[in-house]
Amino acid sequence: MNRRKFLQLGSLSAPLLLTKKTMANGFDETIKPIVVSTWDSGMAVNEAAWKILSLNGRALDAVEAGARQIEDTINCCVGLGGYPDRDGIVTLDSCIMDEQSNCGAVAGIERIKHPVSVARMVMEKTPHVILVGAGAQQFALENGFTLESTTLSDDARKAYEGWLKKSEYKPVINIENKKQNGPFAPNFFDDGSVNHDTMGLVAMDSSSNLSGAVTTSGMAFKVHGRVGDSPIIGAGLFVDNEIGAATSSGLGEEVIRICGTHLVVEFMRQGYDPETACKKAVERIVKRNPEKAKTLQVGFLALNKKGQYGAYAIQKGFVFSVKTDKENRIYPSKYML
Ligand code: GLY
Repeated sequence: MNRRKFLQLGSLSAPLLLTKKTMANGFDETIKPIVVSTWDSGMAVNEAAWKILSLNGRALDAVEAGARQIEDTINCCVGLGGYPDRDGIVTLDSCIMDEQSNCGAVAGIERIKHPVSVARMVMEKTPHVILVGAGAQQFALENGFTLESTTLSDDARKAYEGWLKKSEYKPVINIENKKQNGPFAPNFFDDGSVNHDTMGLVAMDSSSNLSGAVTTSGMAFKVHGRVGDSPIIGAGLFVDNEIGAATSSGLGEEVIRICGTHLVVEFMRQGYDPETACKKAVERIVKRNPEKAKTLQVGFLALNKKGQYGAYAIQKGFVFSVKTDKENRIYPSKYML
């Protein structure tokens, strides 16, 4: 190639190179619609959300549908099939947030199948953000939800009976991902170890609007009345329609202490890509107490306005699920320790 040709080519390709350089992670254009969910059980959750997103539906409707899918799953670790607290009672936490920063949540609600839909009703029908316990249940019943049975699922009952042998309060790393009885089965631990499970999902619709939802039965065998990060806006979920959205899974107390998902979104506002933003939030937890961090798991998952996504966890084992019109798969999260 002579010098003249090289210069000609250079002048032609320079703007292309510049364009590429301005796009983080090799994305040339905004990927939308898109839904990302915590854990491998997020694949089915994403499918439910995709039915709405693929028809140009609203992200808010999509994340509610996704959360309802896993709340419906018998014997899953989320919803009424989830593990009970130490008194043998299943209590559920959930929240939802839309593109206008409207949000609603319920915490410690009992015997209601779809806490995410009650959370949405709190958001849309009341001037409040969070309802808890008996008040949340009363509100649900007043608004057409029905009272479900108190009977534990078979797996939850077995796990609870196992836990009662020692009744030790001992969080376990990556409990959501220990597939001992099939992909969506709850985790039965003969040693009675304490665990928790969370489904968090965030989506962007074809109008570029973001929403998110979280649903969980919380840490298994928790003290009755314990509330984790999942229903707390800024901890288990945060959405800022200008910037992006984030959700979390893992030991909720650690996420609450750093306002985890709000922090992730603020890091994205500073220009960090989603994975780096999640990593910096994880660093905040680890730095606070490095020894304690070795014994616990927290994972963050984030999506920005370009449809770029990323996750980061304290420990190995956190995975997340992604659905767009180009991909439908599970990714392992990077991790710190
Ligand atoms: N991340 C769920 C919980 O701690 O309850």
